[in-house]
Amino acid sequence: MTAQKVRTLELKDYKQFERLRQNETPWPYVTDAFTQIWDLAYEIVPRAMLTVEWENAWAGGAGYALAETDPHLAFIGIIIKPEYRRRGLGQEAYTKLIDRLRTRKIGRVLTIVNTRQESGHDFVTQRDFHEIGRSIYCELNTATAAVGVLGDAEQLVADQDLRFTTLNRFPQRGLADRLLPIWNRTRPDQPQHWPYVPVSAHRFEREILAPEAISWEHSFVIVTPANDIVGLSLNIPTAENRLFTFYTGIDPDFRGKKLGLALKLKLIEHAQSQGFAGLAAENDADNAAMWRINKQLGFISVLEMVTYQKLLEAYE
Ligand SMILES: CC(C)(COP(=O)(O)OP(=O)(O)OC[C@H]1O[C@@H](n2cnc3c(N)ncnc32)[C@H](O)[C@@H]1OP(=O)(O)O)[C@@H](O)C(=O)NCCC(=O)NCCS
Repeated sequence: MTAQKVRTLELKDYKQFERLRQNETPWPYVTDAFTQIWDLAYEIVPRAMLTVEWENAWAGGAGYALAETDPHLAFIGIIIKPEYRRRGLGQEAYTKLIDRLRTRKIGRVLTIVNTRQESGHDFVTQRDFHEIGRSIYCELNTATAAVGVLGDAEQLVADQDLRFTTLNRFPQRGLADRLLPIWNRTRPDQPQHWPYVPVSAHRFEREILAPEAISWEHSFVIVTPANDIVGLSLNIPTAENRLFTFYTGIDPDFRGKKLGLALKLKLIEHAQSQGFAGLAAENDADNAAMWRINKQLGFISVLEMVTYQKLLEAYE
């Protein structure tokens, strides 16, 4: 009898898996993309999660999630407990995942590994995955942020007959409907390696606003005199007294007028006045406009999440 076994994850395993996953979180401010993919795998395709055992002890987990709008695309993730590594368990889980994906006629597999997970990089590159993009996790110390030289946030918006407000000033009922147009108008322009799905208000509420714990009083919008939202900054207070920017968007008709910069300047002032130690953000390396803003403000890269892709040959 072999020591290792890979089987479908059962509900009773989930606590173990969750504990291990929390241990692997490389950045304290928000659940990283890797863990979101895991959550997705568990919720959308429950039987796509595997448990890895060694001599009947729980040694790790693995899973895949299918992309909604591309029937040939899947995401995968594997975590083996440190004390059970280098015994071929990762390989065993990987083979099982790929076999299942092949039977589902998946042609493209993505996985995300952070730059501190050296063994993860070796693992995927040895299996013919190639980098197709990366996301920069960056931070700004609010106490030392030199923002004055870049302009005055209030002035920048007032000059365009616009103003700032926070989301707690809107009635909470119907807020998702109010935010949806700017979300669906700006979100497709954020680089990503899988097809964008326009969302309904219900879904926006359920999947974005509710689970990410976005704080209304720390989230800003830029509005026109008619109260139309043309700029959005969604923020989450997180560990170590930071404010994490979950999303920044400027309506396409209002871009290139320093409103993106103004939103961030406003946020820095706000963070300073509210006693937050710093700001944090995730910035796709291909998102030149957002990176230009964040760099100008003094954000420093602390970690990068690399997206790797592998193309699978057609299954005969
Ligand atoms: C990113 C975004 C918010 C920027 O808004 P904006 O109001 O147009 O930005 P600004 O006018 O303040 O311009 C910021 C800087 O980026 C530069 N820039 C704009 N587009 C650029 C591009 N395609 N390539 C390089 N630099 C660019 C501008 O020249 C400006 O730099 P400067 O001050 O040195 O002139 C907007 O493009 C957007 O909504 N994108 C879609 C959503 C998204 O990707 N959000 C970020 C992820 S959360």
